[in-house]
Amino acid sequence: APSASGPLDLAGRRVVISAGGTQEPLDPVRFLGNRSSGRQGVALAEAARDRGADVHLVAANLLVPAPHGVTVTPVGSALELRDAVRAAAAEADVVVMAAAVADFRPQTVPDSKIKKVAGSPPPTITLVENPDILAELAQDRLRADQVVVGFAAETGDAETGVLALGQAKARRKGADLLVVNDVSGGRAFGAADNTVHVLDRNGTVCAEATGTKRDVADAILDAVVPLLVHG
Ligand code: CTP
Ligand code: CA
Repeated sequence: APSASGPLDLAGRRVVISAGGTQEPLDPVRFLGNRSSGRQGVALAEAARDRGADVHLVAANLLVPAPHGVTVTPVGSALELRDAVRAAAAEADVVVMAAAVADFRPQTVPDSKIKKVAGSPPPTITLVENPDILAELAQDRLRADQVVVGFAAETGDAETGVLALGQAKARRKGADLLVVNDVSGGRAFGAADNTVHVLDRNGTVCAEATGTKRDVADAILDAVVPLLVHG
């Protein structure tokens, strides 16, 4: 149920959120995956629900329960996530790509388990690039006036800091907002608290938030609401 105190500033809005981490099959029993728990995406789904939105959660291998009161479509791989998000996004006012999508997937997936063969070298796994779901959504604009939000988990490196990497990514992706998350030293993945910078498509910082994933979720939605066209 909506919270008694908070604003219902997403009433009547349809919000699609992808959450979790994709798993790219290697064979029938193995996959390439990542450490995303889905907590931030789930917190966003709860926050949007409590602000009155009709929420559709595309859930990739969540390590936490999906919230009550939202529509859930479970997916495994990046290609499955892409299909589910695009189908839901056709009717959405807001799409948030909080999922950690594998950049690459194994080119071929055998029907049977990969086996060790005595005396043979380890197998070589050829990867192919997955589609960039966020960049496609930002490019295609499946619905007029749709607000497209991406996330960027950055560690920074010797030359470039987290914020500068996020700014370059914001300009590259073409999303309306990019939420930049500092994941250096294993921060953020699975953690309860979080610090993010919210950038617009030019890379300008329009909000910053620290706190629980719910606090961060509400700060992100605070940045989304002014971008929504009335009606
Ligand atoms: N994303 C996506 N499809 C992909 C890869 C990423 O939609 N194939 C989305 C993520 O859901 C996230 C945003 O793009 O919202 C940024 O993901 P990130 O991994 O930080 O960016 P990449 O462009 O993949 O760059 P890199 O991993 O090289 O930093
Ligand atoms: Ca990536």
